[in-house]
Amino acid sequence: ESYDMGGHDTYMHKEISEQADAVDRVLRGRIDDRFSTVHLGGLNLDAREARGIRRVKILGCGTSYHAGMIGAQLIEELARIPADAEPASEFRYRNPVVDPDTLYVAVSQSGETYDVLAAVQELKRKGARVLGVVNVVGSAIAREADGGMYVHAGPEVCVVSTKCFTNTVVAFALLALHLGRIRDLSVADGKRLIAGLRKLPAQIAAILETEDEIKKIAEEYAGAQSMMFIGRVRGYPVALEASLKLKEISYIHAEAYPASELKHGPLALIEPALPTVAIVPDDDLLDKNRAALEEIKARSGRILAVAHREQEKADHTIVVPKNETELDPILMGIPLQLLAYHTALAMGRDIDKPRNLAKSVTVE
Ligand code: G6P
Repeated sequence: ESYDMGGHDTYMHKEISEQADAVDRVLRGRIDDRFSTVHLGGLNLDAREARGIRRVKILGCGTSYHAGMIGAQLIEELARIPADAEPASEFRYRNPVVDPDTLYVAVSQSGETYDVLAAVQELKRKGARVLGVVNVVGSAIAREADGGMYVHAGPEVCVVSTKCFTNTVVAFALLALHLGRIRDLSVADGKRLIAGLRKLPAQIAAILETEDEIKKIAEEYAGAQSMMFIGRVRGYPVALEASLKLKEISYIHAEAYPASELKHGPLALIEPALPTVAIVPDDDLLDKNRAALEEIKARSGRILAVAHREQEKADHTIVVPKNETELDPILMGIPLQLLAYHTALAMGRDIDKPRNLAKSVTVE
């Protein structure tokens, strides 16, 4: 853990700042423009086998689980294979049906998280095919899996994961594109998504340049007792991850809900003292998301929107660059890493080593 801080005060800040380069690395050497697809040499899965997959089940813990949720949406959307993510520990303890036509994917930054490793071992014992999406080369999960991909985020020292989360989601976009192009994703969609992937590093750099603005907003919210995070479909895992990040390093209580579920309970909590962070992409759910903002405003709730354009119902909007709709969640998570960071900093927290947490949990 003694590598250079490169002028940053914390590893977390360093790692957030490295994301444009990190994403460039996960893309490098994998895109095939001729066939509008992606090559992933380590999957050990030929086209015939890829066509035989009936379901995808993604397993991980903490931030990696959230990356897996976005991954499942990407796979279902681009490859049209039913996919979902589940915390590895829950999966392991519920005697799941292990199906030979399901592709299992274990996600882990460290590649050493015990709950994930134990799930992989149990799956393999039952004859399942397991891929690893892992950052640390040669780690236990990478060795145990039948194949997989490295996310090439580089060393991550801060206990909470930032650049590895982003790279893992990009890795899933590559996997989804690869499986999609073997199945029913068109050449045109392949091209469109490849162009979108290539735009990510510059767009991430542009978001990071708005740090001062995000810092000011964070300082306003730093006194909150609790915060609500909402998003719909693609925005929901972004909300979950942003709320986890805030909890981990600021110790502010935070909840994440699908925006559509607000009216089924959590709306009762909304009042001026409970700020809401809303993920509001310019997609087919924009009107629905705006309606949720109105519901919150009608109850005098303060709103911070992360959106592709100013939201008039919001007290603050962080505007992020637009990419292809499927890839938008990758960018929308980044300002919220900075929001958590500057909130925790304003509260004087030990950002790289939050209380009670470890970088990787290698025991039960
Ligand atoms: C620990 C860390 C989390 C991390 C999780 C999974 O709980 O505190 O930040 O997301 O483990 O780690 P992994 O290395 O498997 O991604």
